[in-house]
Amino acid sequence: MDIKALGYVGYGAPDPKEWLKYGTEIIGAMPARAVPGESWGMPMDPTSGPESGGTGVAADGSVYLKFDDRQWRIGIHPSQDNAGIMYIGFEVAGVRELEAAVEELKSLGYEAEMGTAEQAYGRAVTGIAYTKDPAGNSIELFYGATEDFKMESPLGMNFKMGGLGVGHLNLIVSDLQANKDFYIRVLGFNLSDYITFGPNDMSANFYHCNGRHHSIGLLHVGPIDGIHHMMIECESIDDVLRCYERVNDAGIEVKSTLGRHINDNMLSFYMASPFGFEVEIGWDGAIVDENWTPRQFCEGDIWGHRGLDAETIQQESEKVTS
Ligand SMILES: [Fe+2]
Repeated sequence: MDIKALGYVGYGAPDPKEWLKYGTEIIGAMPARAVPGESWGMPMDPTSGPESGGTGVAADGSVYLKFDDRQWRIGIHPSQDNAGIMYIGFEVAGVRELEAAVEELKSLGYEAEMGTAEQAYGRAVTGIAYTKDPAGNSIELFYGATEDFKMESPLGMNFKMGGLGVGHLNLIVSDLQANKDFYIRVLGFNLSDYITFGPNDMSANFYHCNGRHHSIGLLHVGPIDGIHHMMIECESIDDVLRCYERVNDAGIEVKSTLGRHINDNMLSFYMASPFGFEVEIGWDGAIVDENWTPRQFCEGDIWGHRGLDAETIQQESEKVTS
């Protein structure tokens, strides 16, 4: 399978509006101009829609955030089960690739099915299919996402997305081997590098599907499944530092101080998000090409990132997923 990018991510949250405030006032995303699944109205008729009127809020209370030319990149849906990934959207090249992906998944013993045109419309894409990774995350494969351009960050932020996708997700997985098999052998991700930091396979493993150093990380710290963090990359260091200022002004907990990772070269910090998992805001991440070969490394950072040690990650992960 050939995944082109991590196209979108959906989370569940008790109150998505808290994420709308956080996403727009701290990160600097724009509320989606139209939410997926609603009509844009008639072109050239400004009175004809969309119904959500640029609020980013759908009739069911879901919130959709826009970061670049795509109509939306992150969706947050009302859920009393609290914070967590609801779905991960991976992009493929077209309908042939989508159908072939479903056949391949089935032939390898994974649950998979094509979605309907209505389900695709509900994500503002052209075609969609469904499966699950071995950690239980719902995986959506799609092609033909809606681009509505006109991105205007309310805080003047510029995000590095486009063909590189949303950013990256670092997933916590209890069964490391099963998830490695799924992401590498089935979805076709390539190992960028990894670091081991304890007994029993405790490790962080990073995989790319395009130029971004990693779109998916698999973190194994014990019998836990969940998400450790989502990374969003900015176009400039000033974007990162301005966000850092806002985080401090708002009294949001900084989970890891500014620093630069050894593996993906990302200069970043990590903060608490409204519901559990952490958000990393970064800049200057490494771009890999076809000459890249996998590496292992023995420490995580060139400098900084205090709070991002194995012990803290393990403790925090237990908190997030318990
Ligand atoms: Fe990260």
